[in-house]
Amino acid sequence: MTIENEKRLAAEAAAELVRDGMRLGLGTGSTVAYLLAAIARRRPRVTLIASSPRTETAARELGLEVQSFGSLDRLDLSIDGADQITAQGWLNKGGGGALTREKILAASSERFIIIADSSKIVDRLRPPVPLELLSFGVLATLRRMPTTKIRDVSDGARTPDGGVIADYFGDFADPRELSNQLSTTPGIIEHGLFPPELVHAIYICSGQTVTKTTRREQK
Ligand code: 5RP
Repeated sequence: MTIENEKRLAAEAAAELVRDGMRLGLGTGSTVAYLLAAIARRRPRVTLIASSPRTETAARELGLEVQSFGSLDRLDLSIDGADQITAQGWLNKGGGGALTREKILAASSERFIIIADSSKIVDRLRPPVPLELLSFGVLATLRRMPTTKIRDVSDGARTPDGGVIADYFGDFADPRELSNQLSTTPGIIEHGLFPPELVHAIYICSGQTVTKTTRREQK
């Protein structure tokens, strides 16, 4: 239960950032579920954009209205979870398979905030790195990347945008180098390495204490 409590406290701290009139992006995952509950309790007048059908459904069940991301060209704030976080502010994301939409929300937001429990802190990012692949020629893409495996269909291998979710298992030392390599590989739509430049602040809860680290404070 401690980890669940940490997720909830981190999410509740970040929910304090939400103000009336904001255009707000919502990530995906169990930590974001606590965020949705905290936002629903506050009932702000906001425009909400969800990064996945899972988040959209959960938000609607809580009485929150969700819009499509077709008619807005920017967001004020997005809040999301992460699978791994380093002291330098690098993230590995996409355990829930929503990495492409999550990265679009991050890049479109004035502030992109991460919420996490203490288990997400790592000394360095490690595989697997989630990928979204274009279904066209997917076997050819995989042949060029032998350390990559498509996820089981039961784990949600298909995205709402028609992509295929896979995981890259190759070891790596430098996330920026791997990020550049994955970004320039034909057939990869997006990968789960998020650079520190995308992240405005990280709220991590350890025990009962939420610590906020802003981009400038990262090592
Ligand atoms: C989904 C994600 C999630 O933010 C990440 O997997 C963390 O999830 P959780 O809050 O359930 O631990 O990137 O694509």
